[in-house]
Amino acid sequence: MSGASTPISRSGRSTPLHFRDVVHDVIRHYRHEKDSEAHRIFRQSAGHKPKGTLPQTVNPDEETIPGIEHPGSTGVIYCSDRAMANGFSYASSHEWANLGQGAPEVGQIPDAPPRPTSIPLPEDSLEYAPTTGVKALREAVADLYNHQYRQGKLSQYTYENVCIVPGGRAGLSRVAAVVGDVYCSYQIPDYTAYDQVLSAFKRLVPVPTALDAENKYRLDVQQMKKDIRTQGLEVMIASNPRNPTGQVIEGEDLKSLVDTARDSSVTLIMDEFYSWYMYPENEEYGRSVSSAEFIDNVNQDPVVIVNGLTKNWRLPGWRVCWVLGPKNLITALSQSGSFLDGGANHPLQLAAIPLLDPDRVMQEKIALQKHFKHKRDHVLKRLEELGLKVEVPPVATFYIWLNLEHLPAPLNNGLTFFEELLKEKTIVIPGIFFDINPAHRRNLFHSPCHHFVRLSFGPPLKDLDKGLDAIGRVLKKAKKEGGHAFGHSYKKSVDGVHQLDKLI
Ligand SMILES: Cc1ncc(COP(=O)(O)O)c(C=O)c1O
Repeated sequence: MSGASTPISRSGRSTPLHFRDVVHDVIRHYRHEKDSEAHRIFRQSAGHKPKGTLPQTVNPDEETIPGIEHPGSTGVIYCSDRAMANGFSYASSHEWANLGQGAPEVGQIPDAPPRPTSIPLPEDSLEYAPTTGVKALREAVADLYNHQYRQGKLSQYTYENVCIVPGGRAGLSRVAAVVGDVYCSYQIPDYTAYDQVLSAFKRLVPVPTALDAENKYRLDVQQMKKDIRTQGLEVMIASNPRNPTGQVIEGEDLKSLVDTARDSSVTLIMDEFYSWYMYPENEEYGRSVSSAEFIDNVNQDPVVIVNGLTKNWRLPGWRVCWVLGPKNLITALSQSGSFLDGGANHPLQLAAIPLLDPDRVMQEKIALQKHFKHKRDHVLKRLEELGLKVEVPPVATFYIWLNLEHLPAPLNNGLTFFEELLKEKTIVIPGIFFDINPAHRRNLFHSPCHHFVRLSFGPPLKDLDKGLDAIGRVLKKAKKEGGHAFGHSYKKSVDGVHQLDKLI
């Protein structure tokens, strides 16, 4: 293989013939996940084996404790385990770049209010909090939504429309636990945890729809209306802004979605964790998005909003989040919370109240949008310089959904790209983790997310640069040595528990 300077051409045109031959040869031999070392390692970890065809849904080799089934870890834990197998530890974490991180940087950023540094512990707070949360915090959430999205509207949220939950996933689980025997629609790609949440609650039947790049991964509301009629959908779940594509439904489109839910009696579960991470081109900082803006009657419209301190307030460790919806939903969530999680941490609920002050929120939003927009633009520019132009750049969230299809095989699939970057002390998330596939019956090579990885620009800029340098090294090696340099020699997983499950 000649030429360290051989460019990797996205069209393939400027690439020498013998390089293309090698690439095509490799592509020919990588049709199925069983041909790929990265995919075989993934399938070997507990909970990720294919479940076979009905009626056999449990893998007998894996389930050795009577009555216990692995639900399959979220991508988070799998990626943490693989990072550990490649030498990652807390002690060495500063040498690594974690572009897989699903959390924003938590330190002080320019012009934002000071970060909280201490938490009072009044004696009352040593008691259980109610399973729906502390009333004053519920009121503060309702007031904030009325202030941000419902000024001048007749129907206003009150504390009875708010349930405080110990984190977003706990909120989603509480909601899923009260969904009955219905068809529940979701889109691919979307947030990884929906996979486990939808399969853990077995009464509902998940119905997937694939979003495509040509349509900028937009939810087609007209198509959705048809699906409601023809498939009898009763519930739909979606993140908006969407993880991992960084796209958002807003304005008239969002209004039409909310109108459809109301008119067709379909419950919308809107996961709005990234509602502040908006990057308007006209620098109109301070604007955020929520379906709350288009709800007519807060107690009748079937719209459930999940959000919290995790992303917008950059406080993932607090585990203080909320579900907002009709009063009648909140009483159901109080019941599911009473057996699922028992409620959010009492002292941190009290400490959260002043953080919801509308003036403080506005200052946070503006600072956050300026800071993260700068990081997004920096990463997109560097990726383009590396020959990895992002087809559908994010307009929201802190994620980039990167298509690798044009790289030489096997580097063109997300799981192999991920393994190669681990060798360079960098973590990204393979796209297949966003293919919410509760039945686990797909050849991973057929997943619409197979050629993708998700890069996060949540971490501080210097860490992002470290990761981009690593991507640069892998691409340089591809130019120099071709596809055959990749796809093998992966370290096997280390034994042990998931010590690093908070990593990503
Ligand atoms: C779309 C979306 N919803 C919810 C969450 C989970 O939030 P939490 O960490 O509070 O459970 C995440 C976190 O990555 C997310 O991306």
